[in-house]
Amino acid sequence: MNEQFHLLLPSASSLSGRIDALWWTMVLLCSAVAIGVFIVMWVFCIRYRRGRQIDRTLSRGTTPIELTWTLVPLVIFIGVFGWSLFLYAREKNPPADAQTIYVVAKQWMWKVQHPNGTREINQLHVPLDVPIRLTMTSQDVIHSFYVPAFRVKQDVLPGRYTQLWFEATQLGSFPLFCTQYCGLDHSRMGGQVTVMRPEDYARWLRGDGGNATLATRGAALFRSLGCSGCHGANASVHAPDLDGIYGRMVHLSDGSSVIADDVYMRDSILLPDKQVVAGFDPIMPSFQDQVSEDDLLALIAYLKSTRTQPVSATASEITKNGRH
Ligand code: CUA
Repeated sequence: MNEQFHLLLPSASSLSGRIDALWWTMVLLCSAVAIGVFIVMWVFCIRYRRGRQIDRTLSRGTTPIELTWTLVPLVIFIGVFGWSLFLYAREKNPPADAQTIYVVAKQWMWKVQHPNGTREINQLHVPLDVPIRLTMTSQDVIHSFYVPAFRVKQDVLPGRYTQLWFEATQLGSFPLFCTQYCGLDHSRMGGQVTVMRPEDYARWLRGDGGNATLATRGAALFRSLGCSGCHGANASVHAPDLDGIYGRMVHLSDGSSVIADDVYMRDSILLPDKQVVAGFDPIMPSFQDQVSEDDLLALIAYLKSTRTQPVSATASEITKNGRH
């Protein structure tokens, strides 16, 4: 048996202990029921076995016992449901102050981008005791991001942003896996999440000095792809001004309106005809084949950075809006 083997997973996030408590409660409940059923079964097998001289008539009504075995499990099941629902809501809703890190999956690696521009592959460095939100997408097929020690798992889909959050509560390295069969090297698509003290994390981020931040890289792309030619302040083409667009309400030509979130901006770059802004012609070309998922995240980071007031609309609204 190697020393890596643990019968119990390390519990290394703010939610893992709570999830384990629910899990153990269910294991104990199920065990208690199974043991009870087996005891009664054996007692009856022996007591009422064939050939034994014993009274086999029903002496009294069974209503009380039937009510008991119906109502007691009902109350327990509703309790377990309520408990799981509470945990699920906690796990699905990142705290407002969570730090965002971007993840792009592809066959067969995890590409991570920190907001200051630091990039890594199959490694994710995070600070201790800080809520981290991962905004994730896939460049090709469906993958699934799974860190057992944190008890978090989320599918990562092409053409869509999904998110996951956690707060690591233990220093060290924890394995990261892809849990969706995604082709030949699926089983090798994994890595490590390294939890560092916040000051070490800050030093580690700086150690990658000289990198442009994600927003700066996005600004350069905004010019090199020609976006600024139409959406810039002095542009001759009639196109919406994108300064401070992120988180604003946008009125569309079909009379509806949307909040300009990550999904809206992504769609507007890739499928510009899908949601045309009211008062503008649908003349923008699609950038479908010209921008990678990494570039899209950089462009969105840049558009976010042009907003001077803090934005409450975040990736958490992606799922709430139900648009994809
Ligand atoms: Cu990616 Cu399995």
